[in-house]
Amino acid sequence: MAELHIVDHPLVEHKLSLMRDSETPTGQFRQLLRETAYLLGYEVTRDLPMERRTISTPLTEMDARFISGKKLVLVSVLRAGNGLLEGMLELIPSARVGHIGLYRDPSTLAAIQYYFKVPQRLEDRQVIVVDPMLATANSAIAAVQRVKEAGARAIKVACLLAAPEGVGKFQASHPDVPIYTAALDERLDDHGYIVPGLGDAGDRMYGTR
Ligand code: PRP
Ligand code: URA
Repeated sequence: MAELHIVDHPLVEHKLSLMRDSETPTGQFRQLLRETAYLLGYEVTRDLPMERRTISTPLTEMDARFISGKKLVLVSVLRAGNGLLEGMLELIPSARVGHIGLYRDPSTLAAIQYYFKVPQRLEDRQVIVVDPMLATANSAIAAVQRVKEAGARAIKVACLLAAPEGVGKFQASHPDVPIYTAALDERLDDHGYIVPGLGDAGDRMYGTR
């Protein structure tokens, strides 16, 4: 069964509460999402492999620890994934970046793909798929399926909010892929929205409604 990590730090909860508030304006919502991405990024990268290299400090030589292996890959699920992507890229500026364009069909809630572009050699890299909302999980399941087809083997998913229904479905589809979320909410409503949630993440980020 895939692990579920809930990043329940006070700073994360505080920022998330501000994002949930429907009075929070678009610009502040984007800024909070970027800040929360740093904190999620910190947890999701906690077990990256390390190696030792000899360096000279101004005082002496030492064996210093550095992240080893090929550059990791952040894959953003468009559009709302870009909010998490921006914050995580500030934390990991050398990361490679992929994009998957997916939208939810409003009647079936199926994830429809309209774009796919990812870096090469995914099989040698840690891949982190970022999307603020894991609701029915149709989008996250499709995104992870596509990066697996492109060669990825070590994959994690980072989101802001998850619904219990989506988590169960995702774990059944991809038992090898851990989920990192800032909160596990109560349920989905009849339209597949997370309750209490924060509304439509893309619309909140870009002011499109
Ligand atoms: C939102 C969100 C996720 C998806 C989650 O995207 O950003 O990608 O819904 O829902 P699911 O778990 O039920 O698949 P949306 O389809 O609204 O597209 P957008 O980001 O372009 O607004
Ligand atoms: N997508 C969103 O943006 N919000 C939800 O609550 C569910 C899916």
